[in-house]
Amino acid sequence: MKKLIAGNWKMNGSLAANEALLTGIKSGLASVASPCDVAVCAPGIYLPQVRSLLSGSDVAWGAQDVSAHESGAYTGEISGAMLREFACRYALVGHSERRQYHGETDVVVAAKAQRALAFGVTPIVCVGESLTVVKRQLAAVIHAVGHCVSEVVVAYEPVWAIGTGRTATPAQAQEVHAVLRAQLAAACSRGSGPRILYGGSMNAANATELLAQPDIDGGLIGGAALKVPDFLSIIEAASAAR
Ligand code: PGA
Repeated sequence: MKKLIAGNWKMNGSLAANEALLTGIKSGLASVASPCDVAVCAPGIYLPQVRSLLSGSDVAWGAQDVSAHESGAYTGEISGAMLREFACRYALVGHSERRQYHGETDVVVAAKAQRALAFGVTPIVCVGESLTVVKRQLAAVIHAVGHCVSEVVVAYEPVWAIGTGRTATPAQAQEVHAVLRAQLAAACSRGSGPRILYGGSMNAANATELLAQPDIDGGLIGGAALKVPDFLSIIEAASAAR
């Protein structure tokens, strides 16, 4: 399976900066031989711009969240149907910043994953923290989505590694990924199961070693996704790692 490199822009960007970033990524990607899968998860308000800049390219796009509700009186939220209307391929759900600052529980995150799937948007379900917590977070999603679990993407992001420049060692990350792989395999009756991305200070310097681990299927990239050369280096490492 191809690796997936997904950028999480968080609350960064502007019309001008997004255009420069996406133009740079598209032109850099054109010279990568058999590239990995690539996506960017942009702030909701920029999805129309991102869609128009990326349509017809090899870069997919997605949102950073999706509502657990279908429609109605939920001020400020964006529904799965709206994401689909803007051709979002992915939606992050349960990022640790949302769990921490917006009080999202395992149940809410699982409902969001379910809602995304119902609208044909692939949820990138983020889990973090200790092994016990990570297993509990994933169990909630498996419980909610049932056999559809093979259609999600999972991102393991140790909270202490996010935006800190401190990365899990390849061996530490592999150990957790292997546990998650086993948990997912037990829930998936068919196929090879979801891709499991690593996130947390992945950068041009450490990507090759992390992506060489057998159970690391790609990366969820924060800070380094905002710089064209850094993001392209990670894409190159993932493309070569296949
Ligand atoms: P980082 O963020 O790469 O800046 O550590 C990753 C994330 O939060 O998804």
